[in-house]
Amino acid sequence: MTLSTADRQGRPSARVLLLRDVDVEDCGFVFATSSASRKGRELADNPRAALTWYWPAQGRQVRVTGRVETAPQPTAREDFLGRSPASREAAFTGRTSAPLSGAREYEHARARAREHLEADPLAVPPDHTVCTVRADEIEFWQGSADRHHVRLRYLREGDGWTRGLLWP
Ligand SMILES: Cc1cc2nc3c(=O)[nH]c(=O)nc-3n(C[C@H](O)[C@H](O)[C@H](O)COP(=O)(O)O)c2cc1C
Repeated sequence: MTLSTADRQGRPSARVLLLRDVDVEDCGFVFATSSASRKGRELADNPRAALTWYWPAQGRQVRVTGRVETAPQPTAREDFLGRSPASREAAFTGRTSAPLSGAREYEHARARAREHLEADPLAVPPDHTVCTVRADEIEFWQGSADRHHVRLRYLREGDGWTRGLLWP
């Protein structure tokens, strides 16, 4: 999925992330990232985000906007320790979104990360974060060859949702 965030001045940025889980009870879309990354810093300043999915073969798009909640530390720990050794090692290698001088610096940091995890296999990076986008708006877009596209929007209202069509 594509996660779009904005900084304090409203300047947007977007990137692809893995959707880790869906909270079907309360329309939550879960992802994991580093709180020190650009998106992490933007979300700390402005905890609202948009998510987008696109299925070209079906001509479908789904859009979500909502508030971003950060899960408690034990959830982040459980998520991290459930990852593959390569993923954990990579997470301890350098700082996401910081400038990197080249392959040598990367390999050096990766070797240090490996040693760190060998010494402490249950180590969890302090910036590893699990977040949930709690949807307050969801739009389903179905494309059609004759351009009669259908847009169906759900808006959260109190404890429920209202549903309506939008002009394509
Ligand atoms: C298929 C794919 C899956 C990705 N999954 C994640 C993810 O789950 N979490 C994450 O932090 N970055 C993930 N990334 C990397 C991000 O797209 C991005 O490069 C990185 O998080 C830094 O983004 P930022 O500088 O905007 O914070 C993924 C990239 C791709 C292409």
